[in-house]
Amino acid sequence: MATEKKVAFITGGNRGIGLETARQLGKQGVKVVIGSRDLEKGKAVADKLRAEGADVDVIRFDITKAADYLEAYNYFDKNFGRLDILINNAGVSKESFGAPNNASSVNSSVLRETFDTNFFGTIELTQKLLPLIKKAPEGRIVNLSSILGSLALHADPASPIYGFKALAYDASKSALNAFTVHLAAELKDTKIKVNSAHPGWVKTDMGTDAAPMEIPDGAKTSVQLALLPATGPTGGYFHMGEALPW
Ligand SMILES: NC(=O)c1ccc[n+]([C@@H]2O[C@H](COP(=O)([O-])OP(=O)(O)OC[C@H]3O[C@@H](n4cnc5c(N)ncnc54)[C@H](OP(=O)(O)O)[C@@H]3O)[C@@H](O)[C@H]2O)c1
Repeated sequence: MATEKKVAFITGGNRGIGLETARQLGKQGVKVVIGSRDLEKGKAVADKLRAEGADVDVIRFDITKAADYLEAYNYFDKNFGRLDILINNAGVSKESFGAPNNASSVNSSVLRETFDTNFFGTIELTQKLLPLIKKAPEGRIVNLSSILGSLALHADPASPIYGFKALAYDASKSALNAFTVHLAAELKDTKIKVNSAHPGWVKTDMGTDAAPMEIPDGAKTSVQLALLPATGPTGGYFHMGEALPW
């Protein structure tokens, strides 16, 4: 299965922004492997995208299962010997944004489950795959954060997100942003670029129908950061090419 194409791994690629990111990267000639907790759902998506002309495969992958990091490593090592693009897209939001989410009473299991997926699992997977990303000519790591991870905006009563507080989700994305900054600094003398993406408020299962942005637009920031040229930024936090305040 060795390929000259760039190889991308998208976690949570079976629906929402991850699926659309796979579609758009596939259209740009990237070999895409989607991770899907439910292999059958992932296979159906891969079949659909292949029918549209994209080069897509699927592996079963759960970001909360440590054994899956090694399985993913072995899959990319055996089939490609490298990984060009890692899109840490899988994420959960377990609080209701329609109800008050007081920091003083956030449920500790919600806090832990959110961090297991959005932060701990994402870091452990990245650590496991980093040796393969270092083997790519110009590795790219995209962490799907959110504008809700911005401490600067949450602290500003005049900001548009001031009233949208949900501590578990927001803090998990702030912590993920910290990972972006720290890993980018560690890798600053390599060709690898690490950035956080805010996709926009997007009409997915997570974003709900109330969101203003359609899914094709919601994938654009991930795609842009995945295909950054050598002159592009690293250690940044972006939405559609615009830098966000941390
Ligand atoms: N939609 C928005 O407005 C918005 C805004 C800002 C940031 N984001 C971020 O963008 C990313 C994608 O969001 P989305 O709107 O596309 O969400 P979504 O429609 O809810 O899809 C989430 C994806 O993550 C996967 N996932 C969840 N838990 C997982 C686990 N333990 N292991 C592996 N995969 C898992 C889901 O797989 P299953 O199908 O198996 O559940 C699904 O493929 C998330 O990180 C989210 O926080 C979204």
